[in-house]
Amino acid sequence: MAVTSNEEREIIQTLLRNCSNSTTDMVPDVGFGPVSNYTDPNRLKQEIDVLFRQFPIIVGHVGQLAEPGQFITHNETGVPILVTRNRKGSLKAFMNVCRHRGMRVANELCGKAAMFTCPYHSWNYDLDGRLRGMPQPNGFESIDEESLGLVALPVGERFGLVWVRPSVGDEAFDLDAWLAPMANQLESLDLGDHVVFRAWSVESDMSWRLALEGFLESYHFCSAHKHTACAGYLDNQSVFRDLYPHVRHAVPLPKALEMEGQAPEVWNYRPNFMTQNYLFPCNFVQVMTDHVYIHSIFPKGSGSCVFQCMMLVPEAPETEKAERYWNRNYKVVETVFGEDFEIGQKVQAGLETGANEHFVFGRYERGLHLAQKAIDDALEGRLTACHGAAAL
Ligand code: FES
Ligand SMILES: [Fe+2]
Repeated sequence: MAVTSNEEREIIQTLLRNCSNSTTDMVPDVGFGPVSNYTDPNRLKQEIDVLFRQFPIIVGHVGQLAEPGQFITHNETGVPILVTRNRKGSLKAFMNVCRHRGMRVANELCGKAAMFTCPYHSWNYDLDGRLRGMPQPNGFESIDEESLGLVALPVGERFGLVWVRPSVGDEAFDLDAWLAPMANQLESLDLGDHVVFRAWSVESDMSWRLALEGFLESYHFCSAHKHTACAGYLDNQSVFRDLYPHVRHAVPLPKALEMEGQAPEVWNYRPNFMTQNYLFPCNFVQVMTDHVYIHSIFPKGSGSCVFQCMMLVPEAPETEKAERYWNRNYKVVETVFGEDFEIGQKVQAGLETGANEHFVFGRYERGLHLAQKAIDDALEGRLTACHGAAAL
């Protein structure tokens, strides 16, 4: 049983206090989000240049890169990325761009290889990205092969997940400082020991920001998910933790109220909450009572996005019963997301009409306030990955 941390005790305490006072977790004032944040192509370009280039993004699970030679590719940020486990067991990441004339050198989503041969003219690269040869090298006599390795990107593995910053950048990249506000919680999940039960992607005609915001409030559950998620959680009783620039969004199950009257020493967080952890800028680690989803949201255009999901379970299912159990869980999530996407697409169409100039963020939609602040801070230069969140 996972140990309940002090932070989790505070969340439980806040929930019980709010419920007994017939209130919920609130910020002092209503907030406003400009609709242009969801529709303006220039704003999106800035978001891509800053949020999707300068900050670390989750690209996979360590289980996909367990052995030397294993590799994954990732294309959704707009920068083709190749991550390899080299012969010595270190993780390496590169722009998946051939130094001859730009083709992607690895073209499968994952696999195992000793060498990558570019499909265009067969230049060869090893697991460390070094150029190891080409057909008919007499045509390239004067080039410096040493300098024509794949361009390396900052990469790190922490808490069972693989992070890459999709740009070379001038600034240092301190993944530990960056993840520090979430470190205790991520550590406690043992995600490195989990296995990927399923991975899937969905494209949707809505701004990536709309997809993001679906995870940052539970006010919509009993309308949008009336016949699904509504019954599973206490209505609009989310508790938020500002782990700047990340956000912990704790959504209590109805049985969480049974902890009222129990001694705090016996409180148990995990079976009583679903937690949607926003990891700035575009990832969520969604913690269910017995399994975990990793979600990543990427813009495709100003009104479209792709949603990548990985379902992690504590161990590979060995019986049909276990397989069915996890599949049922997957189906629930698929249904609930389907409800979100249908609404999101209609919202996006509504935004394009110009009927609204601003969104109104309610006082209890605290996750929206927090995420918008962090995004604005990054776009305006007040938040950078080199500082690490803790230093800001
Ligand atoms: S582009 Fe890769 S070998 Fe020519
Ligand atoms: Fe939803």
